[in-house]
Amino acid sequence: MASILVIDDDSSICESLDLYLSEEGYRVRVALTGTDGLNLFVEEPAEVVILDVRLPDVDGFSILEDLQEEDENVKVIMITAYHDMETTITAMKLGAFDYIHKPINIDELEIAIKKALKTSEMEKKIDDFMTDPDRAFKTGDIIGNGPRMREIFKTIGVVAQSRTTVLIQGESGTGKELIAKVIHTNTSPDEPYIAVNCSAIVETLLESELFGHEKGSFTGAIARKQGKFELARKGTVFLDEISEMSLNLQAKLLRVLQEREVERVGGKDRVPVHARVIAATNKNMRDLVKEGTFRDDLFYRLNIVSITIPPLRERPEDMAPLVDYLLTKINLELHKRIGGVSEDVMEMFLQYNWPGNIRELENLLVRAAVVAKGQILGKNDFPDLLAEKGNGPASVADEGKDESGRFLTLEELEERHIRRVVMETTLNKGEICQMLGIARPTFERKLEKYGISFERE
Ligand SMILES: Nc1ncnc2c1ncn2[C@@H]1O[C@H](COP(=O)(O)OP(=O)(O)OP(=O)(O)O)[C@@H](O)[C@H]1O
Ligand SMILES: [Mg+2]
Repeated sequence: MASILVIDDDSSICESLDLYLSEEGYRVRVALTGTDGLNLFVEEPAEVVILDVRLPDVDGFSILEDLQEEDENVKVIMITAYHDMETTITAMKLGAFDYIHKPINIDELEIAIKKALKTSEMEKKIDDFMTDPDRAFKTGDIIGNGPRMREIFKTIGVVAQSRTTVLIQGESGTGKELIAKVIHTNTSPDEPYIAVNCSAIVETLLESELFGHEKGSFTGAIARKQGKFELARKGTVFLDEISEMSLNLQAKLLRVLQEREVERVGGKDRVPVHARVIAATNKNMRDLVKEGTFRDDLFYRLNIVSITIPPLRERPEDMAPLVDYLLTKINLELHKRIGGVSEDVMEMFLQYNWPGNIRELENLLVRAAVVAKGQILGKNDFPDLLAEKGNGPASVADEGKDESGRFLTLEELEERHIRRVVMETTLNKGEICQMLGIARPTFERKLEKYGISFERE
């Protein structure tokens, strides 16, 4: 139960707040003078203090400072009969959490109390992370409350006891790499974890990256190089975007998995492979096998254990805990004190269909946290989402209409499309230009024109 201390010389205010707030489930103490209030606080701190600026014995501001000296995390809501800007500014500068005018509007006060408590709670979590930052991020807390995520946790527990190959499938941004890392840390934490993106490099380079090469085996091979399978030792090789691997390399990978040995490019020696392979894809592998772009024998070899992560839109139960978790992480990284999102934002989040899944949610929260003025993120802190009107991919595919059925102008359509590509992919500018079929200066101009921020690269 959260505790609140009311310090006000007006006994009728003290009484009515005591009555009302106790009824609301808070533990309430009251004091009619600054000195009494401070003594009560020293005896036992309160999470929130409601403090009158004008007190008979001491100035409210000096009490504010004393309270903070006692407990730097205390949330003080100042109350005054005076509407002057200067007092308000002084109070906020001195570190008051909020400032409310008399006559007290009880709804306003209650909102302020709730915000204060939410912020305290968030600060406590940050402190926990601070004292033990490894705990959360090394094991990679995976948020998941629903039955499908719980099934995945069980599978992770089971595969962590063996070294079988795992195939992780899921839409972009659903946490495939996160799960790969958690499997790794739960299996062989002291061995290397090595990730290779199969779509990022040309085939010949990928081959030598994976398997290594001997000196002089091709132009540019000036020294012998160990491949990722060797470097991973008894750890993990994470093959991201496995569907993008050429058929030729697929054949080679299959051999490595069957024989548990690699041959460096241009070499004869066979090097034993001990690493566990985890592969990931956002494509439907069975379709690719049917189309003939992915070897069925390799698919079966990789798919010994398969984990399919549900998209965020199918996990409404995870939305609130994810927002909480991500904000804690963001606060820590950006040195912010964001307490949460407003109810209408949460509603909007639950309506939206998140084509970029958790990565998209994280990106949105980071952007909002950077520019937000308040401690609770409101609707206006998410202009991109408002522009989307909660339709995700459908909004462009929906014959380019807005939600009232009006056809969009070409310009509006262009803006939405660019926003989506920037937000939902992790591509760099060059790659996006290629995808959109426009030159870099044109792209830059459009970003500027539509006020779209591009934070990576
Ligand atoms: N269940 C979860 N709990 C907490 N954070 C998560 C969860 N799932 C994903 N994330 C976070 O979301 C971001 C995206 O996750 P990750 O990179 O693992 O996705 P991915 O599926 O590999 O995406 P892509 O297909 O685009 O490569 C990361 O910052 C990750 O930590
Ligand atoms: Mg990934």
